[in-house]
Amino acid sequence: RELELKKRGGKAMKLDGPGEANILPSSIPRHKSEQSGLPNGDGKTESHTGALQRLPLRKQLQQPQRHANITSQHPQSHLLKRRDALLPIRKALPIWPHAESIRAALRKNNVLVLTGETGSGKSTQVPQFLFSEKWCTKCIAITQPRRVAAISLARRVAEEMGSLFGSQGPAAQVGYSVRFDNATGPNARVKFLTEGMLLQEMLRDPELGQYSAVVVDEVHERSVNVDLILGFLKNLLEVKSNRRKAPLKIVIMSATADVESLVRFFGNGLQSSENGSQHSGAASRVGNGDDVQSESSWSGILSDEEPTANADSIKASRNDLIQKPLSSLPEATHVSTCFVEGRQYPVKTIYLSEPTQDFVEGALKMIFQIHYKEPLPGDILVFLTGQEIIESLEKLVNEYAQKMEKEVPKLLALPLFAALPQDAQQRIFTPAPHRTRKVILATNIAETSVTVSGVRFVIDCGKSKIKQFRNRLGLESLLVKPISKSAAIQRKGRAGREAPGQCYRLYTEDSYNGLEERTMPEILRCDLSHSILMMKARGVDDVVNFPFLDRPPGEALEKALLQLLHLGALTEIGTISEIGLKMSKLPLTPTLGRILLEAAAPERDCLLEVIDIISALSVETNIFLNLVSEERKEEAEAARRDLYKRAGDHMTLLTTVQRYAEENSDRKAWCERHFVSHRAMQNVMNIRKQLRQQCTQLKLLPPSSISSPTSSMPSESHTQNILHCFLRGFLANTATLMPDGSYRTLMYKQTVAIHPSSVMFGRKTEAIVFSEFVFTTKAWAKGVSAVQNDWVGDIVGKVFGC
Ligand code: CDP
Repeated sequence: RELELKKRGGKAMKLDGPGEANILPSSIPRHKSEQSGLPNGDGKTESHTGALQRLPLRKQLQQPQRHANITSQHPQSHLLKRRDALLPIRKALPIWPHAESIRAALRKNNVLVLTGETGSGKSTQVPQFLFSEKWCTKCIAITQPRRVAAISLARRVAEEMGSLFGSQGPAAQVGYSVRFDNATGPNARVKFLTEGMLLQEMLRDPELGQYSAVVVDEVHERSVNVDLILGFLKNLLEVKSNRRKAPLKIVIMSATADVESLVRFFGNGLQSSENGSQHSGAASRVGNGDDVQSESSWSGILSDEEPTANADSIKASRNDLIQKPLSSLPEATHVSTCFVEGRQYPVKTIYLSEPTQDFVEGALKMIFQIHYKEPLPGDILVFLTGQEIIESLEKLVNEYAQKMEKEVPKLLALPLFAALPQDAQQRIFTPAPHRTRKVILATNIAETSVTVSGVRFVIDCGKSKIKQFRNRLGLESLLVKPISKSAAIQRKGRAGREAPGQCYRLYTEDSYNGLEERTMPEILRCDLSHSILMMKARGVDDVVNFPFLDRPPGEALEKALLQLLHLGALTEIGTISEIGLKMSKLPLTPTLGRILLEAAAPERDCLLEVIDIISALSVETNIFLNLVSEERKEEAEAARRDLYKRAGDHMTLLTTVQRYAEENSDRKAWCERHFVSHRAMQNVMNIRKQLRQQCTQLKLLPPSSISSPTSSMPSESHTQNILHCFLRGFLANTATLMPDGSYRTLMYKQTVAIHPSSVMFGRKTEAIVFSEFVFTTKAWAKGVSAVQNDWVGDIVGKVFGC
């Protein structure tokens, strides 16, 4: 039967459905787990109690705090029950048999490079393998590129340990720290934190004294922060520290890492833990107890055609190491390496025969085609570019799903993107209800960061949003770009975790063949000002000679140094200024940090207001709901007009935050009336509270201000002060009106247009300052305020001394 769906815009869309909608239960047999290794021979070795029992009595008594937690402070039987129920699942993970090798590797060397398929158990198991080690007396830090992964991993590991997590109680053994949300109790032994948070901690405590080990996860993503962390860790290993009693152990983990370059990077000049002497040699390889892993551990990887990411890249890396004579490896490598074989079923790839312009339509069509054609179980994972696209597809899927015949199983659409609230993100992990197929609509988060079980079908739009800094324009923007081959292979691999699967690529085979091999590391394409500020704050003055895994282009370094100089973060001789030091301590970009510090200056005196605006700019979602139905559009516009300010988007945000904060009776109802996201506003308030706290710590605000009510709407001169602060930070995002009606940026002469989402859209003013640059069909300025030419002149005079 053909399923006819009404396409967006009313046109009919035909799906090539099968002759009959097949709703019979699947006949595909479930894969039985084959792994059952016991790392320490007793199957319960991962609990502290086991480790404790092996200690001499005196030592046991000396460690009451640490180990008593498990038994006396966590008597909750439901936690222990859950822990025991999860143990067999943990034992079936491919990493389980490697536990002892991993421990031995870190006893021998301070650095371990661990490579393994996504889902093999690296993030959840490695910290648990390590904390019973003798050297591990303090906490283990594990970095994650994304908040969602940091929090969900902390929750999972706490469950596996039978412990509370986060801020559930002082006994919590597992904590997490993400920007504006630190939930780490005093007894935390394992702490998941975003890369940015570890960098912040490194500023406060350069030797990372509170940790016994740092695990850097998802290195293959090569975020700029990970590159920075690797450089700092390398420096830390090389400097002989007097303060650290025991050396810091470092584990570098990756799904597709270029092992050799990491070994080379960390290898030079390091000492082995065993003898402390420096000598040249090769990387130690660990496997199932052998020094060099056996060939057979690679046989678990199956595929009908192109290999999956790990079969491909890990195998290549491994072969590189095994085939090369030891002498050709980088010199002096006291770095262990370990490969964890993946479990992967064959995944069939289906390409489009013709390219499509509209991947939302293509994905929608494919979802229903799979749903009608393929039996349950088998969830669908759709890779899309970002929140807006995901939300609009979710709406369409729900609309069409309602029209399905009764006998057809249900469809449950679940979005997944970084800015999604916690509880909504967690829904993707819940198995689909009876006779229901889950359709997870995700960004590239689901590529490696998050593993969702039950997926047998992947739909890949072939694109993702990436950050791109344009040196010439001095502007950073998010661009929708084709993914790399390696990302496409990763996406495909998600369909073959538990059974053979299918991957529908919404592009042609020719397009696939034309993709770049790998995604370019972020450090080669992003604004480096934040990274350099971090380096300078850590005392790295010679940024050009910093140990980068990939050296960023000279022009980008230069632009970033110049930007920091303009912001007043650096002195004329390139050292960090007092303002720069304060900026580095704020969890904000250098520009926003500078705006905040400007607001604290006595002549501006608008810190509380600027904190309100920055808080609203810092939430990952739009605070104004943009998915309003046609019928309610007018109502929404009228409600929003009530909040709009002629001065522009920044003052509109301020009004919104202040009105929300003043609302004492029912904030949720207020949000509904104003078409504002209540959840986003709750986040804004949380960020505002934390920024106020940080400002009191930096002595920018008196402690009494932490809970001050918001002031009433500022006067015109106060508004000018506020906008002056934004000009001070966003000088590169300042544009003046041209005779032809366009706007051109002051510093790099880029033409921009005011984005339709701005309250300034359609208005002309002599100059604008904007907080975001977006490049789609043309260059847009988002988050725009009207400013005057003489204010701009004023700031330019101050910055350039003219
Ligand atoms: O780090 P890696 O991708 O190698 O694997 P992991 O994140 O340690 O995940 C191992 C397994 O733990 C996954 O296959 C999931 O079954 C489970 N897990 C989970 O249930 N919830 C999480 N938040 C993370 C992992």
